[in-house]
Formats: sequence, structure tokens, C-alpha cells
Amino acid sequence: MPGGIRLQKALAQAGVASRRASEELIAEGRVSVDGQVVRRFGARVDPESSEIRVDGMLVNTAPDRLYFALNKPRGVVSTMWDPEGRPTLSDYAGQTEERLFHVGRLDTETEGLILLTNDGELANRLTHPRYKVVKTYVAKVPGPVPREVVRAVRKGVELEDGPVQVDSFRVVENHEPKALVEIRLHEGRKHIVRRLMEAVDSPVSDLARTQVGPVGLGTLKTGTMRALTAREVSELYTAAGM
Ligand code: URA
Repeated sequence: MPGGIRLQKALAQAGVASRRASEELIAEGRVSVDGQVVRRFGARVDPESSEIRVDGMLVNTAPDRLYFALNKPRGVVSTMWDPEGRPTLSDYAGQTEERLFHVGRLDTETEGLILLTNDGELANRLTHPRYKVVKTYVAKVPGPVPREVVRAVRKGVELEDGPVQVDSFRVVENHEPKALVEIRLHEGRKHIVRRLMEAVDSPVSDLARTQVGPVGLGTLKTGTMRALTAREVSELYTAAGM
């Protein structure tokens, strides 16, 4: 290809590894470009359009494709603009030139992890039930949590719009009068966690999302945003079947 940049430079710019370490990945045959394993360091690629994979995982080499994790505060609406003038995600999304989409929604009263990106395809896939991306929530409920509640949630609960099956459910802290439970599930019906816990007589007073697929909230402070790492982006692509 005339023009373009060297493969190891594209990998280094994408944040995969240093240029030296990227050369090693190439030499080891772990890098493919547009479906072909490339072992030559000099190979030139177009970072905007080449499909570059490391160990089969797609790498974001286009510098204008952006991915962020935001720790949404309670009271913020999960839209980029609100006709009623309430605080929205765009108040926290910083000064990017690009138009960002939010991946799914959280209730206004729910806090925690929401992904923002200008990659419409990834955003759509991550919210599609087909890809079964698991989300993790931590909920404050009345404590101590009776064993029957744990059993009932794990078994599956019937809601008015159909059954809900969790991927996992555990009690994290079992105090009186409040307990913390962790719920992992791969669906996104409206108010699903609140409705689920309500159905087993353990109404949620506080709810936070701590993880979406491979991306965790970690120590991200409420109301702040960080760029995802190259690895997290690759793992999201994989989770979304890309
Ligand atoms: N479940 C809820 O009830 N609320 C959310 O915001 C997310 C999942």
C-alpha cells in the first residue's frame, strides 16, 4: 500500500504495546491485517481502514474512534440532552468534538458505569440481547437478606413482562437494617433490577452499575470519565462479536 504507516507504528499508536513489543507480536505471528497474518515489520497499513487483529482480537487503530467509561452520578438523566433542563450525560462528557452515543441507559436514580462512544456499530451491538453482554449491579436492599430471597432470585423470577434469569446473585454485605447484593445479568429491560428485587420483597434503595462486559468501574470517581484502554476496547469488540 502506498502511504499508510508501518504496522508496528499503528499498533503502538493504538496503545497495544510499545513499538519494540509490537515488533515481537508481529514476529510471533500474532498479528493479522485484513485477515492475513503479517510477519513483516515493514508492512504498511492504513490505521483508519485496515482490520488489524492481535491474537484474533480486533484493535482500534483509528484515532477518531473514541471510547469512554463514565461514572454517572445519581440524578443525571441517561440522555445527551434533556428538554426539561435536567443534568444529562453531556454535562459530564467533557469537550470532545465528536458526537458521542451512550451505550444503553441507567435510571436517573441509578449511578455507575455507562459507556460513551462515537462507534455506533459497537453501541448497537452491545445493547442487543443477542450478544448477551453481562452487566453487574450492586444494590442496597433491606438486610439481612433471607436465604429464600437468594434462592428465589437464583431460580428465576416471573415478572409481568416475562421471566428474568440472572447470571449470578450474591450477598456482599449482610447487615441489619441494610444489605448489599451483587446481581449479574445480561438483559436490559427497563428497571429490571429494581423490579426483580421488588418481586422478591427486597426493594432496592440504592443501585449502582459496576461492570459492563469486560469494563469495570474500578476507582473512577463519580461524575468523572476516562478513556478505555486498548485492551478494554478489543475485549468489547470481542464481546460484541466483532
Ligand atoms: N436495572 C434497574 O432497575 N435500573 C437501572 O438503571 C439498570 C438496571
